[in-house]
Amino acid sequence: MSRKPFIVGNWKMNKNPEEAKAFVEAVVSKLPSSELVEVGIAVPALVLSTVLAAAKGSNLKVAAENCYFENAGAFTGENSPKVLSEMGTDYVVIGHSERREYFHETDEDINKKAKAIFANGMLPIICCGETLETYEAGKAAEFVGGQVSAALAGLSEEQVSSLVIAYEPIWAIGTGKSASQDDAQKMCKVVRDTVAADFGQAVADKVRVQYGGSVKPENIAAYMACPDVDGALVGGASLQPESFLALLDFVK
Ligand code: 13P
Repeated sequence: MSRKPFIVGNWKMNKNPEEAKAFVEAVVSKLPSSELVEVGIAVPALVLSTVLAAAKGSNLKVAAENCYFENAGAFTGENSPKVLSEMGTDYVVIGHSERREYFHETDEDINKKAKAIFANGMLPIICCGETLETYEAGKAAEFVGGQVSAALAGLSEEQVSSLVIAYEPIWAIGTGKSASQDDAQKMCKVVRDTVAADFGQAVADKVRVQYGGSVKPENIAAYMACPDVDGALVGGASLQPESFLALLDFVK
């Protein structure tokens, strides 16, 4: 099986429209061939239309950082997956640990969001990952496996084959303390084995699993060399064009 590497920058709550436009203009013409790697950025809803316009016609995929699971209605402050899709959004990140922790997103919400994203013709990037306490207690595999099973419940084999799962240990996010190559491989394999148990090995062989947590130009090649790591979800190191482009040097 061959899974195309997929590198995604997650801007989180950073950049205004001018900064977002300047970033996209600085990177679009410098991306490696889409034969070698798929590249995307997940951006705040407030700059989504600016980013989509600037990225139009390029190989740069655009993701939203969240959406609601209903298409319309009395849900003040939420973002419609239907409208995200109509705008031209390719992917939606769901279940990021920051959303689980600060905005109380549950496994059940994430499962409903995944279904809504597929219903609107986009693909989810589903985040999972354990706390330091869970990691130190030796319960990371059990915990992350549970998150993955809950997020994917009721999806079809075809849907699961096409989506992306990002394993991001919470203790490695924004801390500069990245997971070891061994831990990243071991946990991305746990994610894949969970998909195999729930949907069969053929589906597990197709699903793309990313590692996230203090990924930088200096350490990305080591993760990408792991057999079960198909890509990276990158926060801090994705914010500047030079650093973002340097993340893609591993394909050379
Ligand atoms: P950092 O790369 O800044 O650690 O963030 C990781 C992350 O949360 C990406 O979604």
